[in-house]
Amino acid sequence: MSDLINEILKLKREKNAVILAHNYQIPEIQDIADFVGDSLGLSQQAASTNAELIVFCGVHFMAETASIIAPNKKVIIPDLDAGCSLAASITVEQLREWKKQFPDAVVVAYINTTAEIKAETDYCVTSSNAVKVVEAIPRDKKILFLPDRFLGQYVSSITGREMEIWKGACHVHEKIGDIDFAEVHAKHPNAEFLIHPECGCSTSCMMKSRQFPDATNIHIHSTEGMINFVKSSDKNEFVIATEVGILHRLKKINPEALILPLSENSVCEYMKMITIEKLCYALQNEKFEVRVPEELAAKARIPIERMLAIV
Ligand code: 13P
Ligand code: SF4
Repeated sequence: MSDLINEILKLKREKNAVILAHNYQIPEIQDIADFVGDSLGLSQQAASTNAELIVFCGVHFMAETASIIAPNKKVIIPDLDAGCSLAASITVEQLREWKKQFPDAVVVAYINTTAEIKAETDYCVTSSNAVKVVEAIPRDKKILFLPDRFLGQYVSSITGREMEIWKGACHVHEKIGDIDFAEVHAKHPNAEFLIHPECGCSTSCMMKSRQFPDATNIHIHSTEGMINFVKSSDKNEFVIATEVGILHRLKKINPEALILPLSENSVCEYMKMITIEKLCYALQNEKFEVRVPEELAAKARIPIERMLAIV
């Protein structure tokens, strides 16, 4: 393994490459990456990097987003099959039909969407800035929010905005809604509960924290929001409701704390497709390139840039 690691580091220097990794990547990938973060942080890194080659260790829509933001860079992903069930939960034809029903509405799309969907969108959002972006849209405007229904319900509840919400979901986070949250909460009364807004339980968790003012230990955050929470907390027990890959970084930040996943089965098989072997092959051969054709990229860039200007 150390030979592969050395080879990756050598190639990275020779090719002026940067390795960007999502918080759900396997530990070995996180440890070798130049930057590990959430969807927003990764987009910001792609926009500002001086590297000529961006190696994206994440899923396909993330590499596509990097290619849209940084059209002059070469963007590669170590496995083109690393998809996303949430991004796949709406097609561009379905979006066009939906827009026809609400011709005056503003379309707000989660970043977990394809370039084609982004090209038909007014604003992009990530889980860390969705509330802020929606609040920046005039209140008299109707909003079509897609594709994640749990994030949509969360944003609607926080902003008080009525929105049309697409009924999409991520297969990993939706299943977290089947867990008996109250039971886990009762077992760990002193833990801080960090819940991703894509989770099937996020709506009921919000209700719980509202109904029971004592339940101050329930917090809804993006993955990077969870990292920042643990960094600044003086607590020593945390239960994490999102994909388990994030536990590696959280445990590095606070090795003394007890950090448990709400479910050990919350594994995104797409994120886990990226391995050290594939990363090395990708750098050696500058494969597999993800390039969004410029005509499409020009349209898809608009909602991303609007988002980046707000946050
Ligand atoms: P964030 O890391 O932006 O919170 O997103 C989570 C996710 O599911 C990415 O696929
Ligand atoms: Fe997509 Fe869900 Fe995997 Fe995130 S965890 S990449 S939303 S399938």
